Amino acid sequence: MRTYYCGEVRKEQIGETLTLCGWVDRRRDHGGVIFLDLRDRTGIVQIVSDPQRTPDSYKDAEALRNEYVVRITGRVSQRPEDSLNPKLPTGEVEIYADKIELLNMVRKQLPFQVSTADLDTVREDLRLKYRYLDLRRDRMSSNLQLRHQVVKAMRRYLEDQQNFIEIETPILTRSTPEGARDYLVPSRANPGEWYALPQSPQLFKQLLMVSGFDRYYQIARCFRDEDLRADRQPEFTQLDMEMSFMSQEEILQLNEELVSYIFQAVKGIDLPRPFPRLTYETALERYGTDKPDTRFGLELVDVSDLLKDSGFKVFSGAVKSGGIVKVLPIPGGNEAISNVRIKPGGDLFKEASEAGAKGIAYIRVRAGGEIDTIGAIKDNLTEAQKQKLLELTGATEGHLLLFGAGSAEIVNKTLDRLRLVIGQELGLIDTEQINLLWVTDFPMFEWNAGENRLEALHHPFTAPHPDDLDDLKTARAQAYDLVFNGYEVGGGSLRIYQQEIQQQVFEAIGLSPEEAHSKFGFLLEAFEYGAPPHGGIAYGIDRLVMLLAGEESIRDVIAFPKTQQARSLLTDAPATVDPKQLKELHVASTYKPKN
Ligand code: AMO
Repeated sequence: MRTYYCGEVRKEQIGETLTLCGWVDRRRDHGGVIFLDLRDRTGIVQIVSDPQRTPDSYKDAEALRNEYVVRITGRVSQRPEDSLNPKLPTGEVEIYADKIELLNMVRKQLPFQVSTADLDTVREDLRLKYRYLDLRRDRMSSNLQLRHQVVKAMRRYLEDQQNFIEIETPILTRSTPEGARDYLVPSRANPGEWYALPQSPQLFKQLLMVSGFDRYYQIARCFRDEDLRADRQPEFTQLDMEMSFMSQEEILQLNEELVSYIFQAVKGIDLPRPFPRLTYETALERYGTDKPDTRFGLELVDVSDLLKDSGFKVFSGAVKSGGIVKVLPIPGGNEAISNVRIKPGGDLFKEASEAGAKGIAYIRVRAGGEIDTIGAIKDNLTEAQKQKLLELTGATEGHLLLFGAGSAEIVNKTLDRLRLVIGQELGLIDTEQINLLWVTDFPMFEWNAGENRLEALHHPFTAPHPDDLDDLKTARAQAYDLVFNGYEVGGGSLRIYQQEIQQQVFEAIGLSPEEAHSKFGFLLEAFEYGAPPHGGIAYGIDRLVMLLAGEESIRDVIAFPKTQQARSLLTDAPATVDPKQLKELHVASTYKPKN
C-alpha cells in the first residue's frame, strides 16, 4: 500500500515517485496552490497540489480536511529556497501529488485540533476521553515510542548480555505484602472467596529462585489501590528482576550497567559510573528525604545540639521532647523571599503546614553577620550561639535561614518540601542534568503509630544487615532504592532465605507464626526445600520514561491512563454491572448513593 513513512523522506529521494499513507495534519490553501501536511507516526511531510503541475490530484486535494485518511502518490522535489523548514527532518523536500485517494473522512467535529493545539491548551479530560486522537500528536506519539525503546533496551541487555529469562506470573493471585490496598476480584467458582491483583510479582519471583531460574525478569503490570498523584497510577508497569547467588554489590553493579545501557540506547548519553551512593541516614540528614534531588545544594543543617538549651522554647522544647531542630540556609534568600510568604497565610507557610509543621521560624543575616528575626529568637541566642549558627550553616550577608523544630519526621518533611519549592523558584535546578544515585541501608522497620507496632519498611522478606542481627528492631536492611532527579525509580533488596531470621522478622512486626502461615505459608514452605540466597529489584517503568521524556506526569507516558479519581474517561470504567453478574459472583453492594 505504501512505499515510505512520511517522516523518512529526505533529499536523497528527490526525483523518486513514492506512495505514502497517513492523516491530513493540516491543509492550507495558498490562492490556488494547496499544501498538505501529511502525518503518520514517524512525522510529517509536505504535499503540494495545484491545477498546473498536478491537475489530476487538485480536485481531491481541495476536498480534504484535517484528519482525513489518505493515500498519496507523488514525486519528491527540492523545496524552494524561501520555504525550507529547518525545524522538520523532512523540511528540505516536498511531494507533488500525482494521485490522492481518500481512504476515510472525519464524520464528526473534532473535539480539539490534533495538529495545531499545544498539548497544554487542551483540557486533560478531553484529551483522556478522546485519547486515540491525543495519541496522534507528535509529543504523545514520541513518548510512547520512547517507552517502547526503553523496554526494548531492557530486554536486549538482560536477555542478550546477562542471560535473564522472562517468566510471567499470575494476575489472579493472593494479596502480596507491598503495603498498599489490594484490588480484589470475586471468585464465581469459589463462593465467598476473592483473588487479589498483584501489587508486584514479589512472592512468585522468589519462588522462581527456589525453582532454580537464577536470573528472572518480567515487564510486569502491578495494581495498587492507593491515593493517586502525578507519579502514581492504580495500575502501572515494573521491570521486575530477581537473581540468585549474587551479593548486593554485584546486584547494584549489574543494575548500573543496565541503566547505563538504557541511557545509551535511548539518549546516546554515557552515564558516569559507579553511581553515587547515600545511606538512608545521610540522605535524611542532608536533604530531609530518602529520595533527594541532588541537582542542587540547599542542604539542611542539624542544629539540635547547638540550640537544645537555648532560651527560645520552640527550639529547646523540641529537642527536650525527643525531636530535632534543623535549618534550611538559603543564600540570597533575604532578597528573594519576603516575610509575608513565611508568615501565616503565605505560600511557604502553607507548604510547611501541609507537611505537618505549626509554622516556620526564620532568621535573616544582615551586613556584618547581624541577625534579624521576627519574634523571640534573637533575644534568646547568646553571641556564641549566634556565631556558631552562622558557622554551621555557612550563612553570610543576604542569607535567609528557615528553621524546622519538632519531631524528626515532620521537620524533615517540611524542610524537604521548602527546599524543593525554593530550589525551583530560585532557578537552582539545571533541568538538563541527570542525577542518579543509590540510597542504601534503609531501616528494617518503621513505627506504625496507628497500630502501635513496627512495620516492615519495604516488605517482610527483606534481609537485615548481617552486622545488625543482635537487635533487629533498629537493624538496617540490605535494601536499596535508585533515585533519579528526586524520584524513586526503583527499589529492591536482598531477601531472607534462612528460616530462623524470617521468624525473628515476623516476631518483630508482631506477626504470629499462625498469621504468617496463613498469609504466606506457601512461600515459607517453599523455603524449606532449599532456597538459594537471592535478591532483586523493581523499576517503575512509567516514572523512568516520564523523566526521560521530560514530562511531569506519568499519565503522559501511558497510552490509556486513569484520572486522579482512578477513572478511565475513555471507556468510562469503573461502571455498574448487571445485577445478574453480581448474583453469579455471590456479591452484593452495600453502597447507598447520597440523594
Ligand atoms: P516498590 O514497591 O518500591 O518495590 O516498587 C518498585 C517501583 O515501582 C514504582 N511504583 C509506582 N509507579 C507508578 N505508580 C505506582 N502506584 C507505583 N508504585 C510503585 C516506583 C518504585 O520504585 N516488589 C518490590 C521490588 C523488590 O523488592 O524487588 C516492589 O514492588 O518507581
